[in-house]
Amino acid sequence: MISYRAAIQIDLPVLVSMERVLFADSPWTTGQFKEAFQGVPTIRHFLVATNEQDQIVGYAAVLVVAPGVEADVLTVAVLPEYARQGIATHFMGELEKWSKEKEASAMMLEVGVENSGAIALYEKLGYQTIATRKSYYGQGLDAFVMRKEFGA
Ligand SMILES: CC(C)(COP(=O)(O)OP(=O)(O)OC[C@H]1O[C@@H](n2cnc3c(N)ncnc32)[C@H](O)[C@@H]1OP(=O)(O)O)[C@@H](O)C(=O)NCCC(=O)NCCS
Repeated sequence: MISYRAAIQIDLPVLVSMERVLFADSPWTTGQFKEAFQGVPTIRHFLVATNEQDQIVGYAAVLVVAPGVEADVLTVAVLPEYARQGIATHFMGELEKWSKEKEASAMMLEVGVENSGAIALYEKLGYQTIATRKSYYGQGLDAFVMRKEFGA
C-alpha cells in the first residue's frame, strides 16, 4: 500500500538520487531541492509517497507565492516500478487542494514537449496547453506550459 506524507530535509539525498533516474536530461541538483524546501509549509507544499517498507517511491511539490496568483507545480515524479497506480493523480489532487486553500487563482506547470506520458496525465486532469517555452530544460529541450483554472 502507498502512503503519503510531507517531505522532510533528511529525505533529500534519496530524492536527489531518484531525480537523476527520473529526469536524466535535466535533474535538479541538491541546491535546487534545498530551494524547493524553502518556505515549506507556508508557500510551498512538498509531498512524498512511500511503499510498505517506508521507501520513497515518488515526490511532488507546488509553490504559491501569494493569494490570487497561480500555483506553480514544481515537480511530480514516480518511480517506473510504481507507475500507473494513480500515485501522480493522487499527488496532483493534494497539490490542487493545498493551492486552493492558499487561494491560488489557477494551477500552472511546465512539461517536456516529448513527455507524452506526463502530458496525457495532465490532460486527463483538466490541464490545457497554453504556451511553448523554447529550451526551457536546456538547449533544444522545449516545454509546454499547461494550466488548469479553478472553480469552473
Ligand atoms: C509522468 C508520471 C509522473 C506519471 O505518474 P503515475 O503515477 O504513473 O501516473 P498515474 O498512475 O496517476 O496516471 C494517471 C493517468 O495519466 C496517464 N498516464 C500516466 N502515465 C502515462 C504514460 N506513461 N503513458 C500514457 N499515459 C500515461 C494515463 O491516462 C493514466 O491513467 P491510466 O493508468 O488509467 O491509463 C511518471 O511516469 C513519472 O514520474 N515520469 C518521470 C518524471 C516525469 O516525467 N514527471 C513529470 C514532469 S512534468
